[in-house]
Amino acid sequence: GLGDVYKRQLLASVAVSLLLAGCAKEQKETLSVIPVPLSADLQKGAFQLNDQTKLWIDAPQEDKTRLADYIAGSPFQLDAALEEVVDNVVILQQVDRLPDITSSEGYVLEVTPKQVKIRAASGAGLFYGVQTFLQMVNEKKELPVGTVTDEPRFAYRGMMLDVSRHFFDVNFVKKQIDAFAYYKLNRLHLHLTDAAGWRIEIDKYPRLTEFAAWREFPTWKEWWNNGRQYSEEGSKNAYGGYYTKEDIRELVAYAESRYITVIPEIEMPAHSEEVLTAYSELSCTHEPYKQADFCVGNEKTFEFLENVLTEVMELFPSEYIHIGGDEAGKASWPTCKLCQARMKKEHLTHEEDLQGYFMKRMCEYVQSKGREVIGWDELTNSTIPDGTIILGWQGMGTAALKAAELGHPFIMTPARIMYLIRYQGPQWFEPVTYFGNNTLRNVFDYEPVQEDWKPEYTSLLMGVQGSMWTEFCNKPEDVDYLLFPRLAAVAERAWTKPELKDWNGFLKGLDVYNSHIAVKGVGYSRSMYNIQHTVTPVDGALQVNLECIRPDVEIHYTLDN
Ligand code: ACM
Repeated sequence: GLGDVYKRQLLASVAVSLLLAGCAKEQKETLSVIPVPLSADLQKGAFQLNDQTKLWIDAPQEDKTRLADYIAGSPFQLDAALEEVVDNVVILQQVDRLPDITSSEGYVLEVTPKQVKIRAASGAGLFYGVQTFLQMVNEKKELPVGTVTDEPRFAYRGMMLDVSRHFFDVNFVKKQIDAFAYYKLNRLHLHLTDAAGWRIEIDKYPRLTEFAAWREFPTWKEWWNNGRQYSEEGSKNAYGGYYTKEDIRELVAYAESRYITVIPEIEMPAHSEEVLTAYSELSCTHEPYKQADFCVGNEKTFEFLENVLTEVMELFPSEYIHIGGDEAGKASWPTCKLCQARMKKEHLTHEEDLQGYFMKRMCEYVQSKGREVIGWDELTNSTIPDGTIILGWQGMGTAALKAAELGHPFIMTPARIMYLIRYQGPQWFEPVTYFGNNTLRNVFDYEPVQEDWKPEYTSLLMGVQGSMWTEFCNKPEDVDYLLFPRLAAVAERAWTKPELKDWNGFLKGLDVYNSHIAVKGVGYSRSMYNIQHTVTPVDGALQVNLECIRPDVEIHYTLDN
């Protein structure tokens, strides 16, 4: 199945570079692991994997099972040792703590000619050590002798996938989870609901999936331009879909076994046209196809959303639940009797504060169930509910900093850089999408922490996230094209400390990865080879400048038309 695409491409990535030190030739091994580890000290010599190589895992049973299963699915299946061995063995050992490592997700990987030993203070740390190990093994099944010491910069390393604008089946999501795991990401934010389709089965509200999950137009753009209607499941031309509860359990378990938490997002109060058509009594005017925002004056809205979130929380063990909050037009609220009565009763003078009231109530509901809330940065437009985590997308994070100023933890996914729906090269070379450009290099160069930040902002920054919106993804391959290779750059920024940024080294690791996914038929984008030109008048002539974001390519041109 698609699920094993990423399990099979994990071959090779140790590049040998010749460094001239004075007159003596010194051979130094360099690692091409993505994301770049904190430190790697490699020497001559190698550990050779062979048919007799054993696997010994010393970790709590749950982690032991997960790690053994994961390695069994890798290209390097190893038989479990029946007792502790020291020769020709890969050892995974959970320890209380590791010197020089502060994150519980860190690990130390030591390779000698006799053994590979990965030590970490958690199952996740061992898993990341395994990822590094798998990337280090070359075509001859060898690993260089040496020590890799590694830990992530951020605890939150996320990718969002929009399954509303286009629905993707369980196997496709699993395939992406495998890629996220390869790059040591640990959060998958699923954008499960939006105008373009509701994607999760809710027992109490069957119309959400019998009706609001389907439309006649397969592409988002045609649907958008043709009245934005929904269809009955099973009717002629009905296109779309949703995850059953069983599907969700399967996805959550699959992600969990790769140390990835799936964070569900249920949109509110806006981006909810599909709900407000299926259950129009929850809108201000009770008319289907008219409104994007829930009626906040109506208690039924709260009852509905609490019931939905209850079923969602039963399915997702995530400590974080995302409750949307972005782009509420609030168009119907000023003329809605119930909304206005609510504002009067709560002494709210502006509709923005009615949203603040609404978000606060929803937050408190989620928090009362022992979960933490994430919301888009529009939550900073009014009083930010206590304890919420802000996901910053607008501008380069100004709104998120407003939250940080008040002590709220935050995550950065600035649209300008981290929205992977954007063009990744000159637009005349690229398939149609929107939102301007961000190249692989732009993502690689992203630095969330700005020089003028107060130190406390930095300590509230939980991490970074790439966001894959799918308005222009009409088939799974379109997501692959936009995700790869930029996903690798997202992961670098999430894991690797900024002082270790090395564009050329990154490209080397990327080329290894890309060659393997290409064999598996994953159509990654070649936009990093595109040529950008600029034309400047110079002394009565025009100077044409050709540039490529890859420094390791030759640019050829002709002057003969
Ligand atoms: C968003 O892009 N509306 C979060």
